Amino acid sequence: MTSQETIQLFGRYVIGNYTRYPVCLVRGEGSYVWDAEGKRYLDFFPGWGCDLLGHCPPRIVEAVQDQVAKLIHVPNTWYMEAQGQLAKALSERGGIDGRCFFCNSGAEAVEAAIKLARLNGKPGRYKIITMLNSFHGRTLGALSATAQPKYHKGLEPMLAGFCYAPFGDLDAVAKLIDGETCAILVEPIQGEGGINLPPPGYLEGLRDLADKHHLVLIFDEVQSGMGRTGQWFAYQNWNVLPDAVTLAKALAGGVACGGLVARPQFADKLVPGTHAATFGGNPIACRAAFATIETIDQDGLLERAVHIENGFRQRFEALRPRCPLIHDIRIKGAMIGIELTVEGAAIVNRCLEKALLINCTHGTTLRLLPALNLTDEQLDAGCDILEEVLLSHKP
Ligand SMILES: Cc1ncc(COP(=O)(O)O)c(C=O)c1O
Repeated sequence: MTSQETIQLFGRYVIGNYTRYPVCLVRGEGSYVWDAEGKRYLDFFPGWGCDLLGHCPPRIVEAVQDQVAKLIHVPNTWYMEAQGQLAKALSERGGIDGRCFFCNSGAEAVEAAIKLARLNGKPGRYKIITMLNSFHGRTLGALSATAQPKYHKGLEPMLAGFCYAPFGDLDAVAKLIDGETCAILVEPIQGEGGINLPPPGYLEGLRDLADKHHLVLIFDEVQSGMGRTGQWFAYQNWNVLPDAVTLAKALAGGVACGGLVARPQFADKLVPGTHAATFGGNPIACRAAFATIETIDQDGLLERAVHIENGFRQRFEALRPRCPLIHDIRIKGAMIGIELTVEGAAIVNRCLEKALLINCTHGTTLRLLPALNLTDEQLDAGCDILEEVLLSHKP
């Protein structure tokens, strides 16, 4: 089918809750994708952050192909080696002696974390503090945690018990804590909010507040986790450990998989009957996730994330003096935000015309979440296009 024929099918049969580019993608390899007409695009935003190893990474393909012929799905009433191996691998990397729960998406991982927090707050404590401009997902619990009124609009009332503080403001968090507070939930690096890095001492300060008031400290690493920032978990870039971490997106190299990793004394509250996900932790997703971890280890991709950070930083810092559109550059590993002085949508569309895929978040922040195996040549080729588009943009 042509892209146009597929677009027509969507117009007639698919609910229009997404804004889509007028392109139908049919194939991917590494940091390239191809559309139905055979045009090749360089992808600096593969899979909205899910394709951390690029499109169709061979070891993930192989693991899934092997597993799908053996056992596609069994429920969590049975033991599965793949789930146990994945839980061990995540626990060993997190530094909190974690116990794992698996689901299928980031929002579901956050829902599990909300339940974990509330169960640990009993009796009497149920309030969770989250941060302005956060993003935690679209299910109603995760959406209530997401402190952005634009996403709540028309869906109110939200779930009770969420209080919001500005990201980076410890005093504001301290003021919100009362006798009913059970947890603090924060993205160590805000992703959708514009790649906002935590100010020095902020995450450590949240740890202190959580300890002082017996709160569960939850880091949402759905976007920042799995090596994207040069560490397995973004919090490992700072001197802090959480009580629980949520994961999804890159966890299984593009295969749907979400997870919660929690210290045993908190995880133990999730007893049978408190939570479940039918597809969660299925053998295909777990094999894919385990192969993702192996690939990151074997290919030295944590180091590669730092290399990518340096490469993009050099390019954008060199461009900055020549490009008044660049207001700020925020980078940690392969999490890259370029805040512009103008709306970014036109820049994204112009890059698309030139066969480069990027994203814009919060109106003015260009967001890149490239694959960790992006080559130096691809990095330069994409930056050349972006540079040309930025320099020729007429606001
Ligand atoms: C930090 C964070 N948490 C949760 C989510 C929700 O994940 P999902 O879309 O898989 O439900 C996202 C998605 O962008 C995210 O960035």
